[in-house]
Amino acid sequence: MKLLAVNGSPHGSEGGTARIAGWVADGACSAGAEAETCDLAALDLGHCGGCGRCMRAGSCAIEDDLPRVHAAMRAADLIVFASPTYVFHVSGLMKDLIDRSAALFHRPPLEGKYGAVVTSSAGMGESEVIRYLGLCLEVLGAAMVGAVWGTYRPPTRLWDPAGVRRRAEQLGRDLVGAAQEQRAYPLRDEVVSKRRFLRELIWQNRKIFREDFADWRARGWFDRLPGTYPTGRREWPPER
Ligand SMILES: Cc1cc2nc3c(=O)[nH]c(=O)nc-3n(C[C@H](O)[C@H](O)[C@H](O)COP(=O)(O)O)c2cc1C
Repeated sequence: MKLLAVNGSPHGSEGGTARIAGWVADGACSAGAEAETCDLAALDLGHCGGCGRCMRAGSCAIEDDLPRVHAAMRAADLIVFASPTYVFHVSGLMKDLIDRSAALFHRPPLEGKYGAVVTSSAGMGESEVIRYLGLCLEVLGAAMVGAVWGTYRPPTRLWDPAGVRRRAEQLGRDLVGAAQEQRAYPLRDEVVSKRRFLRELIWQNRKIFREDFADWRARGWFDRLPGTYPTGRREWPPER
């Protein structure tokens, strides 16, 4: 079982976020997983130019390391999104990855995988980061197992390091346990509503998003979205 930690800190493996993500990986490894880290700071990763080619053609116009990150995400069973809290949100590096991954949200590639979030902060805004990265993982298809954060007092003094480490290692073990048991997490309303929106978007633009349309049809998601109950009738397209 493979765990991939995607770290969006500009400090890479030297930063406070990597330290906590490393403890999650340690916990997962102690439960039998193999762990790999993808430090975005060490990669060549440009900004999204907003051209929309990824959505039309399935690949980005910028030639850089993005395909390597996506391949590593597809190959992993467990995915940790790790970012420092920057002005109540994720780092620019992490946001670049997410924006450059916009087409993946149309065709969720992380179905069947389990995810978790790590952030480090000075104590303000970490819940926004956890909420956002968790939502991204879930809309990408992963089941959200949990999150862990640590508060640093500048520059590098972590509050309650033993407690953060214990929670992080436990989260790593939980990730492995969830995958081993194939634990089923109910989809949250917010995730289902995002999928409903995407279904409408893809349906209305099916001549442009041909591949997305074919993918959703193959998944049966026009008939019934995961996380919704069978109604005994076709759910989509609605009668108007
Ligand atoms: C540009 C910038 C913005 C930051 N914004 C916040 C913030 O909004 N809230 C907070 O608690 N800490 C903030 N911090 C502190 C970092 O989140 C904290 O130092 C974190 O541990 C850095 O992790 P890293 O070493 O992995 O990069 C900010 C730091 C920087 C450099």
